[in-house]
Amino acid sequence: MTQATSPDTPFSPDPADHPWWRRGVVYQVYPWSFQDTTGDGIGDIPGILARLDHLAELGVDAVWLSPVYVSPMADFGYDVADYRDVDPRFGTLADLDRLIAALHARGMKLIMDFVPNHTSDRHPWFVESASSRTNPRADWYIWRDPAPDGGPPNNWRSMFGGIGWEWSQPRGQWYYHAFLKEQPDLDWRNPAVVAAMHDVLRFWLARGVDGFRVDVIWHLLKDPAFRDNPPNPDWRPGEPEVRRILQIMTCDQPGILDLVEGFRRVLDEYDDRVLIGELYLTIERLCAYYGDHLDGAHLPFNFHLMMDPWDAETVGGLIEEYERRLPAGAWPNWVLGNHDNPRVASRLGPAQARVAAMFLLTARGTPTLFQGDEIGLPNGVIPPERVRDPQEKNEPGLPGHDRDIARTPMQWDAGPFAGFSTVEPWLPLVPGWETRNVAAQAADPASMLSLHRRLIALRRAHPALAVGSVRVLVAEAGLLAYERRAGDDRVVVMLNLGGALIETRLAEADGGQIVLSARGGRDGEIVGARITLAADDGLVIACD
Ligand code: GLC
Repeated sequence: MTQATSPDTPFSPDPADHPWWRRGVVYQVYPWSFQDTTGDGIGDIPGILARLDHLAELGVDAVWLSPVYVSPMADFGYDVADYRDVDPRFGTLADLDRLIAALHARGMKLIMDFVPNHTSDRHPWFVESASSRTNPRADWYIWRDPAPDGGPPNNWRSMFGGIGWEWSQPRGQWYYHAFLKEQPDLDWRNPAVVAAMHDVLRFWLARGVDGFRVDVIWHLLKDPAFRDNPPNPDWRPGEPEVRRILQIMTCDQPGILDLVEGFRRVLDEYDDRVLIGELYLTIERLCAYYGDHLDGAHLPFNFHLMMDPWDAETVGGLIEEYERRLPAGAWPNWVLGNHDNPRVASRLGPAQARVAAMFLLTARGTPTLFQGDEIGLPNGVIPPERVRDPQEKNEPGLPGHDRDIARTPMQWDAGPFAGFSTVEPWLPLVPGWETRNVAAQAADPASMLSLHRRLIALRRAHPALAVGSVRVLVAEAGLLAYERRAGDDRVVVMLNLGGALIETRLAEADGGQIVLSARGGRDGEIVGARITLAADDGLVIACD
């Protein structure tokens, strides 16, 4: 069966007509684990500066940097105590200015993480807010009186386990925290909070950062009546506690788009910046975050490759649903991994991780690549005494719940500590780092790194891949095939998402030339009427 998606888009076939965040590839740097230069076992900004050649050779266009702000690190930087300065663990503001300049000098962009839902409990705003019921910032956070029995005001729970409310003695009230108690939620219904945070954005935009990835953007508003969340009938033991209730009063609330559009208006005061939103939502709901008039997020993150099963029918269906629901003029995006989810190489296995990379980098929409995935880094193995992730500490042992496994250090070479540090790193290296590292893979044309470099180069060389339309050709029985087209440039991608050999006919690829195969060894082959696709293989076929 051949399925069709509309190939028509209103977009120019010439990549030069597109903003950088459409035609480019985003690479997530997790600063704790990229490169240590101070010998404390933790990565830092000078370390990122020292590794820019890697990013240039890979060919990425933008770095999204997870938080480097001043933080007590209860949640590894997602608990910000000063939005306008760099944590000394990572360096100085001057280092960050140097990073912005160095990336720009190489034609790359810097996207900062922006964490507006909550601050650290050590942020001066919260310290002041918690000090009394009458201070100038008394209503900057979500304070509530106790329930009649003296307990928490309602049944809202923390994403990291346990109740979502913490008692504060000086005020004799509870405050809400969607994450740790050290991460009190700001009250985004308070215009003073909105204005203060807009000024934070301007502070960074004026320094030259090219955009923001907004943390948990769908969490910012909560039900103003503080109604209980309903129970989740589908919750099963072994799943995180927070799933016992449905987050319908605490997430994705009416009015949220006004806040998103407010961020966008601030970005639009400057040239050529990008607004990315983090949201774990259905395709239908995430599409709402583009805004009613495309005046919301440029790229509401699409996490469905991490959320949904990896099979041809599902991924093909995802493309079609996404293309159908995208508002006219909205630009799609795809994400395969990040610092909160198990590694793609472990989720899918090393062979399918190559196929998935081929999908990510040939799909229509901006790809976001997580550091380490380009060398096929699998999940780390974290002994219990070395667990750092607060989510894992609060609810140990749930499958896929330990985020440390995706946060282990980059493995650069076969030297001590894989070239990451001169001392034992904050999280252990993945066993086998002596051979699974950037230096070894750079020298091996069949490596995962070489595959990534070639895919990104192809994306750059083919307007069809960078900005073209997409049409799903086949999505069944292990085979996902789609056509990308921009003007005269036409590329067909065939992916075997299963473990069995596929023999098929595909008229759209007939006469095309294979320019890359996931397993290697087929470059230059001209495709005939019958095509054979080995298990776990993928083909990029130039058809122009
Ligand atoms: C986001 C971050 C995650 C963090 C959470 C709370 O999901 O990606 O790492 O723990 O927000 O800020």
